[in-house]
Amino acid sequence: MIPLSLDGAAHLLVLTGAGISAESGVPTFRDAGGLWEGHAVEQVASPDGFAIDPSLVWRFYSQRRAGLTGVTPNLAHHALVEAEARLGERFLLVTQNVDGLHPLAGSRRMLEMHGNIMRTRCSACDRAPFEDRTAYGDGVVPLCDRCSAPLRPDIVWFGEMIARATLAAIDAFVRAAGSHLVFLAVGTSGVVYPAAGLVDVARAAGGRSFLVNAEPPANAARFDHIVIGPAGRALPALLGA
Ligand code: OAD
Repeated sequence: MIPLSLDGAAHLLVLTGAGISAESGVPTFRDAGGLWEGHAVEQVASPDGFAIDPSLVWRFYSQRRAGLTGVTPNLAHHALVEAEARLGERFLLVTQNVDGLHPLAGSRRMLEMHGNIMRTRCSACDRAPFEDRTAYGDGVVPLCDRCSAPLRPDIVWFGEMIARATLAAIDAFVRAAGSHLVFLAVGTSGVVYPAAGLVDVARAAGGRSFLVNAEPPANAARFDHIVIGPAGRALPALLGA
């Protein structure tokens, strides 16, 4: 096993993607060829797709909400909770996942950069996002009870901006870490930016970079160390959890 020493001043920045939840039974986005019932993922996860067919988009997310019932975190999620307990302020988890399994496992120093599937917000007014576990029936598009516009999942879709506060928090962590930064990506295909570019940010800061994935992702060549294997086994081993 390659060394991932977290002694001294090491700061661990972790980026996770759908692959970390695969062993909990949550389907990843691209393992089925990037398609859902014949629709490209981008079609059901973009403002344009929502404008064209909001009912299709709600069917996609309602199915994913229903699929999360009873799903629990796995050994990889728990290994990150343990790393956070060890490192305290020298730990930051950034997840692209919207399934809520990291907070369920107990992660607290964590940013959900693509939102959370169990929250809904208005597509038009500034009503605050709210928790919503409803799996809407076929063809149903829920409406805002304040302005009557269609409600939408509180997810950062393709073509939308990551929250400025999230990017600022990552930036602050990278600056504080300097060359003590250890970047670790887990279960992500490395094709969606800005997440896929975090490895370059870590390299520019002079840090070391590690990757745990079931197969080499698109940006594999930019990592210093790669572990190919299932996250539930490989991650606890790598972190010494
Ligand atoms: P993907 O579905 O693109 O990639 C998942 C990666 O996890 C693949 O490279 C798999 O090989 C790997 N994988 C599968 N099972 C694994 C396991 N047990 N252990 C380790 N790795 C495993 O998911 P993301 O990279 O998360 O965006 O996708 C990025 C974004 O694109 C998502 O956040 C989502 C999506 O469309 C939005 O919803 C906005």
